[in-house]
Amino acid sequence: MTATEGAIPKDLSADELSKLYRIDDFEMIARERLSQMTFAYYAGGAGDERTLSRNRAAWEALSIWYRVMIDVSKRSPATTMLNMPLSFPLLAAPTALHKMAHRDGEVATARACGTAGIPMVVSSLSTTSIEEICAASSSPILFQLYIGQDRGFLGELVHRVERAGCVALQLTVDTPVWGLREREMKTGFHVPQGMGIVNLQRSGADANGHTGVGMAQTLGWTITPSLCWKDLEWLCGLTRLPVMVKGICRADDALTAVRCGAKGIVVSNHGGRQLDGAPPTAEALPRIAQAVASRVPVVVDGGIRHGGDILKALALGATAVQIGRPILWGLATAGEHGARRVIDILSSDFDRVMALAGCPTIASITHDLLEPSR
Ligand code: FNR
Ligand code: LAC
Repeated sequence: MTATEGAIPKDLSADELSKLYRIDDFEMIARERLSQMTFAYYAGGAGDERTLSRNRAAWEALSIWYRVMIDVSKRSPATTMLNMPLSFPLLAAPTALHKMAHRDGEVATARACGTAGIPMVVSSLSTTSIEEICAASSSPILFQLYIGQDRGFLGELVHRVERAGCVALQLTVDTPVWGLREREMKTGFHVPQGMGIVNLQRSGADANGHTGVGMAQTLGWTITPSLCWKDLEWLCGLTRLPVMVKGICRADDALTAVRCGAKGIVVSNHGGRQLDGAPPTAEALPRIAQAVASRVPVVVDGGIRHGGDILKALALGATAVQIGRPILWGLATAGEHGARRVIDILSSDFDRVMALAGCPTIASITHDLLEPSR
């Protein structure tokens, strides 16, 4: 039975969660529990969803040319990025509107990431205040920004985010306009009654209302097609926090971002939700990592669903990966505990893959693992 808007199904129990081993199982359960509108918003991509499906297919297409007879009895998946400790090379990607998945919303995600020892990137379009999210987490919180028409408001928001304790920013640059997502239009996507885009609300102003159907009508005001490199320079000059640039698919853009002051690159096509026809991130990553050449960390997201995908991303030059939808499926299944189980599945899978591939350390995950041996 599909849940209707407002109906809150009971969280799966710890015992039920322990019997789920795959991210796809979580997606199946989430589909049954969420309203059609919410599932369509979370799962959908732009256009014919070619980039959406190619993201996963591109990781799957890579083989791991594993090494044998290497002592992997002691393995260390831990790493760092921009001085943040990561228990393994994973971050929660910024995704909007977590209260549509579970009543505890972003607080549940922050707790899950905190106890798992991975950073959470909070979306600009979160349904919980950044202060509340920071207070709920014991691991680093990054804040994702969209630049809308009102640069003055954005400046205030950046300082608020600094005061709340965020350690870095991700500026999303692949949204001059919203991609057209048919599933959203067909199911009448809207922000449910009683839910707010709380961090973007200004006292007394109604300019940030979110009425209408589909992203363009409801949330068009959060972005602007005039975004350009000088906005990145402006942002880097405005904040003491390192700014990562999210949504890059080309090496030349990555290099320009670094010249403008970016301290990190996120190779991303927004989970196939923006330009349909954009390359899968597994294809974009190696060129970018090579061009950036370790000047700044390169993170990648899009279609990461297995520990092996994380190993492949690192072998292609990534410092870490992000997951978007899997966290939402975990939340929809059992709030904090569901999100935590999703992270744990990836963590133990990554640890197992490290062992099976002959990689006791993160440093031993090198490019030759993806090439047929001579
Ligand atoms: C997103 N993504 C996203 N990105 C961003 O910069 N700000 C945001 O608010 C959102 N919101 C959002 C909502 C939903 C429902 C999804 C699925 C995605 C994109 C996200 O950060 C990430 O790039 C992708 O989700 C990664 O792909 P996977 O892991 O979902 O395949
Ligand atoms: C999305 C926006 C919020 O992809 O980034 O829905």
